[in-house]
Amino acid sequence: MSLLPLYEYPDPILRQKTEKVIKFDDELRTFLDDMLETMYADHGAGLAAPQVGVSKRMIVIDAEQEDDENGNHKKGNPICLVNPEIVYKSQETIFFCEGCLSLPNLRADVERHQKIKVRYQDKNGVEKEIEAEDYLAVVLQHEIDHLDGILYIDHLSRLKRNMLLKKLEKNRAEQKE
Ligand code: CO
Repeated sequence: MSLLPLYEYPDPILRQKTEKVIKFDDELRTFLDDMLETMYADHGAGLAAPQVGVSKRMIVIDAEQEDDENGNHKKGNPICLVNPEIVYKSQETIFFCEGCLSLPNLRADVERHQKIKVRYQDKNGVEKEIEAEDYLAVVLQHEIDHLDGILYIDHLSRLKRNMLLKKLEKNRAEQKE
């Protein structure tokens, strides 16, 4: 397994619409394992293929991982979703403070559907469904957005978005000093 390079805002790959996955082979399965490893290494709850430079419909998530009292990371429930599609969204919404590995060191409250149902294929191409609510639903909506070139900052007001992007610029300028 190997770590994949992370693509950060404003890389154009993050804005591209991704292609459906058709071929389920060892190459794909290795790539999904690498995505999971990269997600854990960067302390993400989820990762979408465009964030590692591949414009295809694949995401990995783990909404149950945690750090124990000694600071050791424990895997929770890693899930690889290929060609995910939201087939149900509740009217009820929730706000959750989100961050993104492609927009490092920023966070903001985003409104999401409280409950969703997602149809997807697993790494072997088998069709599955997952029902999710609250945090798991938030993570899934965030990652599936990536497959359509949407970032969480797009859900914010222009004012809030510009504030965050200014902060990102400032952080990067300070890192260079
Ligand atoms: Co993200």
